Amino acid sequence: MKQFEPLQQRINNFLAKQLTTSSKSDSRLKEAMAYSLLSGGKRVRPLLVYATSESVGVDITTADYMSAAIEMIHAYSLIHDDLPAMDNDELRRGQPTNHIAFDEPTAILAGDALQSLAFETLCLTPEPPELIVKAVKVLAQASGLAGMAGGQSLDLISEHQSTDIEQLQNIHAAKTGAILKSCVTLPLVFSLNTSTTDKENLILFAEHLGIAFQIVDDILDVTQDTETLGKPAHSDTKNNKSTYPELLGLTGAEEKASFHIKEATGLLDTISGNTDQLKAVTDLIINRNH
Ligand code: IPE
Ligand code: IPE
Ligand code: MG
Ligand code: MG
Ligand code: MG
Repeated sequence: MKQFEPLQQRINNFLAKQLTTSSKSDSRLKEAMAYSLLSGGKRVRPLLVYATSESVGVDITTADYMSAAIEMIHAYSLIHDDLPAMDNDELRRGQPTNHIAFDEPTAILAGDALQSLAFETLCLTPEPPELIVKAVKVLAQASGLAGMAGGQSLDLISEHQSTDIEQLQNIHAAKTGAILKSCVTLPLVFSLNTSTTDKENLILFAEHLGIAFQIVDDILDVTQDTETLGKPAHSDTKNNKSTYPELLGLTGAEEKASFHIKEATGLLDTISGNTDQLKAVTDLIINRNH
């Protein structure tokens, strides 16, 4: 959507600058990192960070560092997600996946180094060190055992056993929801005057949004073609994944996504700050076609 282009451009420039300055010399590994980090993508997570920051009065420069750190974690998670040992996919954002364009060892290391760069970037945030330490902890928890990595492990296990809707919701909340939630909880670390009630409601908003995001991803996997998605359609079916459309049918999955989006927007209505941008990002998440 056109309205997001200035912020998408802003984060693209910032990511390129961070990667360039992180190491003086060029290398095959750096090239592989740039390949996945600077290859477009919707930049939904940065948009969510910027929107939250605006709503809770956090400086846009601070938001640049949080957005970049989260997008680096996201890029790493996608590189590893596509590996033969995980989803074994050959297309991402309309281009060969990292391990196809380079090779498996390079893709693994590009993911590793992007994860490190994420924390290095977050540490450079122009904010008081004691708040940065809190932010590092939030992002570490969202990415690790209790968050994305833990969820990815459960997702892979779900290929080999039957999963009920409650387990599936836990998988979605961890593998995708935790990082989406950190797009809201990180800005809250640096917000000095948000009320406890607003904080609680924003966190609940982010939890609903995170689950809706992955339900929509699962729906798009079966309803869109490869060209529209920029990644292989029916990847979940190929891998025997547990998904919402598989468990509830397409209509049931759509109803579930609508439920979570309705809850999310309802919570936004209770927030005292300006939530227009947050509502716009929510619309983007539910109405996207890839
Ligand atoms: C894809 O995320 C992986 C999931 C967590 C579902 P996005 O749909 O945000 O991917 P890009 O960044 O726009 O390519
Ligand atoms: C991936 O979920 C979630 C991540 C943590 C990367 P998917 O495996 O469904 O993401 P896509 O469909 O490959 O983008
Ligand atoms: Mg996956
Ligand atoms: Mg995948
Ligand atoms: Mg998917």
